[in-house]
Amino acid sequence: MDIKLQQVSYAYSIGTPFEKYALFDVDLTIPSQTYQAIIGHTGSGKSTILQHFNGLLKPSKGQVHIGERVIEAGKKAKELKPIRQKVGIVFQFPEHQLFEETVLKDIMFGPMNFGVSETEAEKRAKELIKLVGLPEETLNKSPFDLSGGQMRRVAIAGVLAMDPEVIVLDEPTAGLDPRGQREIMDMFYTLHKERGLTTILVTHSMEDAAKYADRIAIMHEGKCVLNGTPHEIFSDAKTLETYRLELPHIVRFQQKIENMMNLRLSKICLTEEELAEEVSRVLRKGRDYQ
Ligand SMILES: Nc1ncnc2c1ncn2[C@@H]1O[C@H](COP(=O)(O)OP(=O)(O)O)[C@@H](O)[C@H]1O
Ligand SMILES: [Mg+2]
Repeated sequence: MDIKLQQVSYAYSIGTPFEKYALFDVDLTIPSQTYQAIIGHTGSGKSTILQHFNGLLKPSKGQVHIGERVIEAGKKAKELKPIRQKVGIVFQFPEHQLFEETVLKDIMFGPMNFGVSETEAEKRAKELIKLVGLPEETLNKSPFDLSGGQMRRVAIAGVLAMDPEVIVLDEPTAGLDPRGQREIMDMFYTLHKERGLTTILVTHSMEDAAKYADRIAIMHEGKCVLNGTPHEIFSDAKTLETYRLELPHIVRFQQKIENMMNLRLSKICLTEEELAEEVSRVLRKGRDYQ
């Protein structure tokens, strides 16, 4: 299911003295099965844009295409429920949305609300609790007896239980320890590949954007100012600096090596393997000339 924003502007509290535009003429196309990262400084409009991907917010101007459906400024949006099932959003700090008395009920709530049978919803909960890295016994506990990291995993299981085609992640690992962060990001990547999902990741981590994304879009002051492959985006350090964004550690390390050895590699490397290969290629070449 492709997602396409055409000339989308969005204003909070439109028509009141508090009216505030948060998006300006955003064009962004995310083809089906793409892993799209969205990066940008705080306040650049990332959370606002992603609420357009399942009709939670309606554009003040422009159009949002979600598969066959069009949500258009000035027109009443029809039946959004199917879209909410197909596009699952994991909000920042999703654990704040847990509310049932047991983890099982919490995970089953979404799918049952969308007409899935109790038996099927329970089956999904039992599979998903393991997928998010928690023991099955967790299902009988109260979500409020869990640690922050465990609650986050339960909330994620709840979104996955809807069996979405598109999964939208708003800084899903914020506040988790490094190991938890890596586990969750790897889990999303495996799901992305195995289930052929479209994944949209809002992140502060240049490392995650470089490691997982097919495309990276940059938001700046409510505009989508760039959208390209990780190699394209991270090859242009000057432009990134303009948007107050950093390069991934690995690229900064490459720059250090280049300066120390007084050489330029032919491309930006986004993994340790890629960097090692490039450096050894240059060293081999140097030896051949001697
Ligand atoms: N509910 C709201 N009411 C008014 N302004 C808001 C609201 N939510 C966000 N904003 C404003 O919209 C802009 C974009 O915010 P947001 O989409 O949350 O950015 P980001 O997720 O990139 O930090 C900011 O200037 C923010 O203050
Ligand atoms: Mg945000």
